[in-house]
Amino acid sequence: MTSSALRGTPLIERYREFLPVTDATPVISMGEGATPLVRLDALSECLELDVHVKLEGLNPTGSFKDRGMCFAMSKAVEEGATAVICASTGNTSAAAAAYAARAGLTCAVIIPGGKIALGKLAQALIYGAKVLAVDGNFDDALRIVRELSEKHPIALVNSLNPFRLEGQKTAAFEVCDALGDAPDVLCIPVGNAGNISAYWMGFNEYRDAGRSTGLPRMMGFQAEGSAPLVRGEVVTAPETVATAIRIGNPVRGEQAMAAMTESGGGVDSVTDEEILAAYRMLASSEGVFCEPSSASSVAGLIKAQAAGRFTKGERVVCVLTGNGLKDPDTAISQSGGVVEIPADYAAAEKALYGD
Ligand code: F0G
Repeated sequence: MTSSALRGTPLIERYREFLPVTDATPVISMGEGATPLVRLDALSECLELDVHVKLEGLNPTGSFKDRGMCFAMSKAVEEGATAVICASTGNTSAAAAAYAARAGLTCAVIIPGGKIALGKLAQALIYGAKVLAVDGNFDDALRIVRELSEKHPIALVNSLNPFRLEGQKTAAFEVCDALGDAPDVLCIPVGNAGNISAYWMGFNEYRDAGRSTGLPRMMGFQAEGSAPLVRGEVVTAPETVATAIRIGNPVRGEQAMAAMTESGGGVDSVTDEEILAAYRMLASSEGVFCEPSSASSVAGLIKAQAAGRFTKGERVVCVLTGNGLKDPDTAISQSGGVVEIPADYAAAEKALYGD
């Protein structure tokens, strides 16, 4: 069966044998996962590689976070939690708020004030979460959330929560199923470093279970202004247009570095200009609209190819982690403006075809 035929089936059911579920685990789901893997023909030809993108923006709340959140929420309910909390650059808060609403739990989220994309804020609010904006960054928000969850009966659903990674590793299974085996290379944005760690777990578990044979080189990309893993030190004032990965002290940093080193891949940074160029190119040349952070995987691929990091024809998967609609402000500011015309035919014809 193709992955598209399985859309709508709860992720937990599809990969039950790979997940720490018991008969007591409720299945909280909105049909997450089973996202398309799409070949980028123009980019493949240009780079002389076989490039595919995993469209994680097609998950129910528009990002890969749903994979981990459906499972973290199911486990929270199993363990008797009535409330959940997370720090977030936006997508985790949207997913937590949605799945908490579905599970009947209350949800609180702490976000960096003024630094999350508009669509993500709208999501957290409409799903009914209590939203606190700190005068600080994600790392500050996470520090506060960790302390709150230690002192109060509220379950932490950041990627520190091991069930988040368990759910997210299923994306690696889907990549292997869609391609028939693991790709040669996986390019992925890195923020708090949970997702790259989850993919590496997934590729290893699938291979160990005999469901795939190889393992990809794991190549993680951070934004230049918030690249603690590239610099080898905490970044106290991270800055980038890719707000989802505006993180200076990644919790899963060591695990992610181990995955990149062990796999023969590595970590690198891309500038905001490179990210935005890839973001515009994906939309205008391939019809793929992702958020800026997601485009860092493709920006990184282009940079790595220029540095001769690949062999001709290698199969590369770039993870496009979130939907472009999340961040309408950046999309509009990166595009040509609207042409305003009076409501008549001649004006439209003139605007399109000239005099
Ligand atoms: N891409 C997007 C769109 C994200 O939202 C995130 C993380 C990442 C990539 C990086 O993933 O943190 O596992 O390395 N967003 C988190 C959030 C931090 O709060 O939504 P990571």
